[in-house]
Amino acid sequence: MSNDKKIKHGGNLREASKEYQIPLDNWIDLSTGINPRAWEIPELIPSTVWQRLPELDDDLLPSAKKYYGCSDILPLAGSQVAIQSLPYCRRSSRVAIVSPCYAEYPFWWQQAGHTVYRVAKGEIDAILSLVDVLILINPNNPDANQYTGEQLQNYHQQLSQRGGWLIVDEAFIDTTPEESLLKKYPDEMPEGLIVLRSFGKFFGLAGIRLGFIAAHQPLLAQIAQQQGSWGVSHPARWLGALALADDVWHQDTIHFLQRQSGALFEVMSKKLKQVKKSHYFCYCEHPKAKKITETLAKQGIWIRYFEKPAAIRLGLPKSDEELNILKRFFSINIT
Ligand SMILES: Cc1ncc(COP(=O)(O)O)c(C=O)c1O
Repeated sequence: MSNDKKIKHGGNLREASKEYQIPLDNWIDLSTGINPRAWEIPELIPSTVWQRLPELDDDLLPSAKKYYGCSDILPLAGSQVAIQSLPYCRRSSRVAIVSPCYAEYPFWWQQAGHTVYRVAKGEIDAILSLVDVLILINPNNPDANQYTGEQLQNYHQQLSQRGGWLIVDEAFIDTTPEESLLKKYPDEMPEGLIVLRSFGKFFGLAGIRLGFIAAHQPLLAQIAQQQGSWGVSHPARWLGALALADDVWHQDTIHFLQRQSGALFEVMSKKLKQVKKSHYFCYCEHPKAKKITETLAKQGIWIRYFEKPAAIRLGLPKSDEELNILKRFFSINIT
């Protein structure tokens, strides 16, 4: 089933280009939370990489286990695959999703017939005993909210005691790897805890479609069986194994993302109040969010607009040049 019409995403530059009559190449695209300085693809990829079928005993899994610090992990064609599969791995449940959130979660859980409650972060303690599944993103997309390991382990304990699940989406946690829940379970994932990791965000290679799910073995085996042998393409597995093992690049990139998000936060905070920062994007709720989005779009800067609550999210400029252009527009009256 296609959900194209219902769920909005960033990265839709073609749409922007048509609407504002600005050629595709002339945009500064800040509409996603993807690292704009991607891991560099080797210039010479052997032709066999494009020719071979995926092999499950290649270098990807050892590389991923080391990078994520967890053994109970399974590669997927993007963490999106898990987002769409998990609702079909439980019978009808009451599901709390901390919102605002990545809109795919409520869509797919509702689609599978579950009862979905959108809850605010501050409501979790009050509703936890009333639901079977709690889903949250740490740090959150879009509002950059964060949770402590202690909070998460407490939620997990309460839910798993009665056969419930805690799903933690760690798509944006790679810049603070020590905060990943996976580090607490290097050998074995406990029952009732599911952690998703996205390869595309930190490595800036969202297009190759690679992500991971970590979970208790029986659930992992169920998802692996649904995926079959060829869920992730051989080129994605080959590139993923190399990128996940590139420790020097990881450290450089953490510094780049920290620096660049700090600079973006400064630019936005000069004009807007209560800007929230993750290492991949900044978010701000504002009654004139739509107008700001349109003003920037007319200048060829594409950002993400949210209707409810009215808010904007800006991804990171890839260079000082882009940052300076943004600075110039934020110094005039964008609201
Ligand atoms: C919070 C969150 N989780 C998961 C995804 C899916 O990422 P992917 O399937 O590329 O791993 C996204 C994509 O934007 C996201 O924002």
